[in-house]
Amino acid sequence: MRVMGVGGGARENALAWKIGLSDHKPEIFWIAENRNPGLHKICKDNQGELRIGRTTDPKTIVRSARGWGIDLVIVGPEEPCFQGIPDALEKEGIHCIGASQELSVIERSKADLRRLQWENNLAGKLLFRTFKNAREASDYIRKNIDTQRWLQNIVIKPARQSGGKGVKLIEDRQAYLHDEKARFKEAYFDSLQARMAAYSDIEDKILVEEKAWGPEYSLQCFTDGKTVLGTPLVQDNKSAHELDSGPETGGMGSISGPDMTLPFITREEYDKSLKIIEGIVEAIQRKTGNSYRGMVGGQMMLTENEGPTVIEMYSRLGDPEALNMLAMLRTDIIDVFQAIVERRLSKLKLEFTNEDAVVVKVVAPNGYPEKRDSAKGHPVQVFETNIKRNGCYLFWGSADLQEDSQVMTAGSRLLALMAMDHTLPPASARIEKTMSSVQLTDGWGLYHRSDIGSEQLLAKRQDAAERVRRLYKYREERGTLGSRIGWVPKLGTVDPSQLLSQEVRGPGKA
Ligand code: AMP
Ligand code: GLY
Repeated sequence: MRVMGVGGGARENALAWKIGLSDHKPEIFWIAENRNPGLHKICKDNQGELRIGRTTDPKTIVRSARGWGIDLVIVGPEEPCFQGIPDALEKEGIHCIGASQELSVIERSKADLRRLQWENNLAGKLLFRTFKNAREASDYIRKNIDTQRWLQNIVIKPARQSGGKGVKLIEDRQAYLHDEKARFKEAYFDSLQARMAAYSDIEDKILVEEKAWGPEYSLQCFTDGKTVLGTPLVQDNKSAHELDSGPETGGMGSISGPDMTLPFITREEYDKSLKIIEGIVEAIQRKTGNSYRGMVGGQMMLTENEGPTVIEMYSRLGDPEALNMLAMLRTDIIDVFQAIVERRLSKLKLEFTNEDAVVVKVVAPNGYPEKRDSAKGHPVQVFETNIKRNGCYLFWGSADLQEDSQVMTAGSRLLALMAMDHTLPPASARIEKTMSSVQLTDGWGLYHRSDIGSEQLLAKRQDAAERVRRLYKYREERGTLGSRIGWVPKLGTVDPSQLLSQEVRGPGKA
């Protein structure tokens, strides 16, 4: 059989690696926007080809799939789903694993996702309000911060998924209203506005929602529209630097296992999270009349008010979370994809290793994420035998293989190193030992997070989870779970749904 993948990051390199291990021995073809060295090698080793092309252009994708005589396409990133690549392929009778344009709205529009949650009264939601532009949001907050107490503890973010950038936490009203901070705030709102102006596919550009607090984790699932199968929990670490400091990135590394949960999340919390995702898949299918075939995930946070709470949805696998999940997957991935296409996932035995923990660490050039131009165009040297000797795996991300075989950085996350062990800390240590195997030969710097998978960071997550659980229990005992009564004092006593329809959800606009 002939398989074609779409997308050129570490997640896609890992997908191709797993497809290459299938007993079906598929020929592997790929379309990416960068000549990813890992994808290039896997395609070559499996009688296929890596082609450079626009991954969001339906014509390019369909033409290549037809030309190569492809049986099955797997879409990696979200943007091709947002642009209707799966729809275009299915229209041509080519099977595709990937959320259709309509279904991927659960990720594309964080505002539509929140509306869907409230309309269907699903668990794991947050108070929110949407705005057409940043200025409207800013004015609204300024005017109402004294009367609507929930506005004192909010996040302001782009309502459209824009590559994991741009969330601003506003933690207290003094900070918000303080004059000294005004210039910084203006600049932030201007940058939000500029980024969102590029997108015409959503109406509400700015989302203001209550700020939650707690440990985060991702639950990635396979779905054929009838069944949603959960995979092991993974925790991604989004801050650029040690102990969760520095700017927000696409993800600097992730941990999973051993077993299906994380050391700081219980089985019960896993089950609740899966139910939330099932509810969202069901609701969006009902709303659109479309059937979901592909991957879906929840980027979750354990909170005192709701327990497992959705921060955002994935209409694909996470990057780097996919690497952990695929490393733990025991079932032949082509069998999983075929079961999705034939809508018989309920009959599939989806198996994962129970013994291994997996650590992934991303290596990025200095300049990422804020000055990507400066992070681009640096020559890379990698000692693959050293990496293998240390029992680690290498997955290429934002890298470009040149005609002369030199690999250059492409400006985003360069590559990911992965290791497995019985517990997380030794896997983390193994990656640290081999980190010097990745270098830039022009002297430009690389960075990674040494703390991912360490005892210290695990203790921090465990501590956060325990604090949240104590508060959750306290609220549960007093029957105030999920309730925000009292957060908007001037409205008097109203039930939360009423409060939302009047004050927050409303028509969803200021
Ligand atoms: P997002 O782009 O929505 O995934 O947000 C990126 C990151 O910002 C998340 O991983 C959280 O750490 C943080 N964040 C987003 N929304 C909230 C929220 N409502 N409360 C607290 N933190 C948030
Ligand atoms: N790891 C974050 C993402 O995939 O969006």
